Amino acid sequence: MKLETAIATIALSTTVSAVLNKPYSQESVEQFNLLRYTGTTGPYVQSRGYGIPREAPFQCKVKQAHLFMRHGERYPTEGTGKGNKQIFEKLKNATVESYDGPLSFVKDWEFYVPDSSLLETESFKGAYAGLADCYNLGVEFRERYEDLWDGKTVQPLFTSGQERVVNSARSFGEGFFASNYSDLCSLQIIPENETQGANTLTSHDACVNYNSSYSDAIVGEFSDNYLKTAAARLNKLSPGFNITGDDVYNLMGYCGFELNVRGQSEVCGIFTLDEWISFDYSKTLGFYYQNGPGYNISVPLGYVFANNTYTLMKDQTSYPFNLSFSFSHDSDVATFVSALGIMDPEADLSVDEVEFGAIYKANEIAPMGGHLVHEVLECEDVLTNATDSYVRILLNDNVVPLPGCQDGPGYSCQLDNYKDVIDSRLGNTSYVEACGVPSDVPQYSTFYWDWEATFKNNFSTQE
Ligand SMILES: *[C@@H]1O[C@H](CO)[C@@H](O)[C@H](O)[C@H]1NC(C)=O
Ligand SMILES: *[C@@H]1O[C@H](CO)[C@@H](O)[C@H](O)[C@H]1NC(C)=O
Ligand SMILES: *[C@@H]1O[C@H](CO)[C@@H](O)[C@H](O)[C@H]1NC(C)=O
Ligand SMILES: *[C@@H]1O[C@H](CO)[C@@H](O)[C@H](O)[C@H]1NC(C)=O
Ligand SMILES: *[C@@H]1O[C@H](CO)[C@@H](O)[C@H](O)[C@H]1NC(C)=O
Ligand SMILES: *[C@@H]1O[C@H](CO)[C@@H](O)[C@H](O)[C@H]1NC(C)=O
Ligand SMILES: *[C@@H]1O[C@H](CO)[C@@H](O)[C@H](O)[C@H]1NC(C)=O
Ligand SMILES: *[C@@H]1O[C@H](CO)[C@@H](O)[C@H](O)[C@H]1NC(C)=O
Ligand SMILES: *[C@@H]1O[C@H](CO)[C@@H](O)[C@H](O)[C@H]1NC(C)=O
Ligand SMILES: *[C@@H]1O[C@H](CO)[C@@H](O)[C@H](O)[C@H]1NC(C)=O
Repeated sequence: MKLETAIATIALSTTVSAVLNKPYSQESVEQFNLLRYTGTTGPYVQSRGYGIPREAPFQCKVKQAHLFMRHGERYPTEGTGKGNKQIFEKLKNATVESYDGPLSFVKDWEFYVPDSSLLETESFKGAYAGLADCYNLGVEFRERYEDLWDGKTVQPLFTSGQERVVNSARSFGEGFFASNYSDLCSLQIIPENETQGANTLTSHDACVNYNSSYSDAIVGEFSDNYLKTAAARLNKLSPGFNITGDDVYNLMGYCGFELNVRGQSEVCGIFTLDEWISFDYSKTLGFYYQNGPGYNISVPLGYVFANNTYTLMKDQTSYPFNLSFSFSHDSDVATFVSALGIMDPEADLSVDEVEFGAIYKANEIAPMGGHLVHEVLECEDVLTNATDSYVRILLNDNVVPLPGCQDGPGYSCQLDNYKDVIDSRLGNTSYVEACGVPSDVPQYSTFYWDWEATFKNNFSTQE
């Protein structure tokens, strides 16, 4: 090709691609991501959100940020791990004529929990390592909110007492505080036991009226046909393994946890997205009717966290920091979300069929590493120039407006109105009354405000 022709061709193709390069994509693909359907067993995934920008709105400045977070990706619990081991052995032990179809990988399959002491702990290798996830969020917070910490004041970091939660909090702290972690971060461990009463990051522990099997019967009404159908499909394509519906359920959980641990899983690929949708919905029902709006104790449980967060945001004399970091569990993130009402569907979720349009999705709320951030914005009103404080909630990295209070900049909520919203959602029955919290344990939270005085000498681990 002569030089001029070559140049002309390049010029032409550049022009054509410029024309064809769409400034706004016409594709909608994120709903095909498996991570949206692991039913909170698998790696973190951002919520879908509503398109509200993450940047501070025009004439607003972020003045505070308060994190409430589930621990990062982890190994399964003892119970789930045992089930995973059983299905592994069953498939390995099966005598098959040949390794065909979706299950052909079983031939060389290895169990992903080589040592049972790893159960219940954070994962630390692979693309979705839980501790790395927490560390990276700490780094991201440092990037976003660096101006909100002076770099010299000792800053507390609160975590509930279970080992994996503590380790998540520690990794986050190492990310945020970097080389100042050991000097300037004070890790405060709040025990997860009943005697803490309301002075806790796990409010259901002291809740006498909390029925941990409340949702079982309701979830049980959801048809398990999808499990049987998947089993039959796999038995046709990979004969000889004699897979049952229960095995399918077990294997779907296996996928999520193996992703957490190894960063990949052959098991994930054996199911269709149709099957994942049903599995995820059954998990959603479990959260909805156990820690969500489908159980009338969820709002009082979550109110403890919402009320604490309000006090942290409103009163900077008793908590003289711009940032708070609190680590806990999936059920606590879920009750907090219930108290806020940010994921309430119009009516209770159906057990008859998957409710595709329902806003409540467990995996949007509490995937591994799931978190809520409350930002306090100081904004100057574009019309009046008046300055006021507003709160904006981010659920898994996306702004989610508070129903009944979204007329501030960027759909934020005027700070005092936030309190009105959570109080009116709670109604007349306080946490203590709704839960039957014994009178000889704390009736409200104090640890954010007295951690220095109380914890230094008792159960704290000062780092
Ligand atoms: C698989 O085989 C091993 C060794 O024969 C046996 O110990 C184990 O119980 C079997 N597991 C299952 C689930 O059948
Ligand atoms: C809180 O943020 C302000 C800036 O808005 C900063 O001047 C102050 O030092 C911060 N407080 C602490 C304890 O870091
Ligand atoms: C924080 O870490 C930096 C970098 O290591 C160090 O220079 C600084 O002295 C530390 N600050 C305090 C208060 O320890
Ligand atoms: C509750 O936590 C406290 C402080 O760590 C501890 O002394 C106490 O034994 C715990 N109680 C139970 C029932 O675990
Ligand atoms: C828990 O809830 C289930 C379902 O409503 C009910 O059958 C069971 O009796 C309850 N258990 C307690 C201890 O109240
Ligand atoms: C398949 O599993 C079922 C349920 O565990 C059992 O009843 C049946 O005997 C098994 N069939 C074969 C061919 O192994
Ligand atoms: C809300 O939190 C504050 C500060 O901890 C506390 O004094 C108050 O009693 C709490 N309100 C309710 C209704 O629990
Ligand atoms: C807001 O401030 C601008 C200048 O900063 C001024 O021109 C304008 O009149 C003010 N608006 C009101 C309603 O006070
Ligand atoms: C929740 O519902 C149960 C059963 O209807 C009722 O006994 C209990 O008082 C309710 N609790 C709250 C906090 O509304
Ligand atoms: C913690 O220590 C303080 C001061 O040393 C003491 O008054 C308080 O009773 C202790 N609290 C607990 C729960 O042990």
